[in-house]
Amino acid sequence: MAIWNLGSINADMVYAMPHLPAAGETLAASSLDRFLGGKGANMSVAAARAGSEVFHIGAVGPDGLWARERLTAFGVDTGHVMETGTPTGHAVIAVEPGGENQIILFPGANRALALEQLTQALSKARAGDTLVIQNETSLQAEAAELGRRLGLRVCYAAAPFDADAVQAVLPFLDFLILNEVEAAQLEQAIGKPPGAIGVRDVIITLGAKGARHIDGGTGAVQDVPALPVTAVDTTGAGDTFTGYVLAGLDQGLAMEKAMAAASRAAALMVTRHGTADVIPELAEVQAARF
Ligand code: RIB
Repeated sequence: MAIWNLGSINADMVYAMPHLPAAGETLAASSLDRFLGGKGANMSVAAARAGSEVFHIGAVGPDGLWARERLTAFGVDTGHVMETGTPTGHAVIAVEPGGENQIILFPGANRALALEQLTQALSKARAGDTLVIQNETSLQAEAAELGRRLGLRVCYAAAPFDADAVQAVLPFLDFLILNEVEAAQLEQAIGKPPGAIGVRDVIITLGAKGARHIDGGTGAVQDVPALPVTAVDTTGAGDTFTGYVLAGLDQGLAMEKAMAAASRAAALMVTRHGTADVIPELAEVQAARF
C-alpha cells in the first residue's frame, strides 16, 4: 500500500537560544541552522525512512525548489508538489538547551494548494492506502472527504491545534493523532473525550510518558512507554512518531508494534538537532539501544 500526505513544506530556521524569548525581550542566538521542515514534510520523510512508499501533495514557491529536491532525495515522490507564485512556507524556531521550542510559522505556498492538484493526485490512490493531513495546508476538509469517498484510511494529525479545523475533518476520519493538551482542548470544544468522537483509532502522545492508543469502537486503551533519552531538541519528534506509526500500519504491523517502533524513532529524534534532515532511518531505529 502507499501513504499520501497532503502536507506542508517549510524552510526551518533553527536558532539555539539560552532560553525561549519572553514578550518584549531581545535575545541573541548562539547559532543558526537551516533544515527542510514543515509538519507535512517531516511526516513524509519519516514514513519514507521507515520504508513506505510516500506521495507528498504540497506546494513550494520559486524559492523552494531545493525543498522539493531534498524531499525527493529522501525517497518521497514529489510528482504532486507544485510550484506556485507564493513564497515557500518557513518557520522560525527557537530551541532552548532542554530541547523545548517556540515556532513562528509563515504558511506561504502551503495555503495556496489547488483543488485540481489534490483531486488529480488522489485519483491515483488505491482503496486501503493511507491519507494523512495536518493543519498547515489549505484543502484539509476537501482532502478528508475525498479520501473517505475513495476508501482511503484518513488520518489527521491535529497540529498546530485548532478545534474548528479538527471538527471540519472529523466526519471523515479513521485515525486521529494529537497530544495531551490538544486532546483536552478538543474535549472542551466538543464535549466528548477523544475516544468517544466516532473515530476508529485515536492516539494521544504523552511526551516523556509515551503514547496511548484508544480503540474508538471498543474503548480499549493501550499505552506504549517512551524511552529514556536526554532531549536536546524536541522539534519534529511528534511528526517523526506519526510518520513511523503510519508506515508501520501501512506495512501491516499491529498498532502496538507500529507505536513501539514510532516511539523508538521519536526517542532518537529528540537526541538530534534539526527537523526532516535528521529523521532516523529504520535500520538506526532498530539498532538503537536505549
Ligand atoms: O513540528 C515541527 C515543524 O513545525 C517544523 O518543521 C516547522 O516547520 C513547523 O511546521
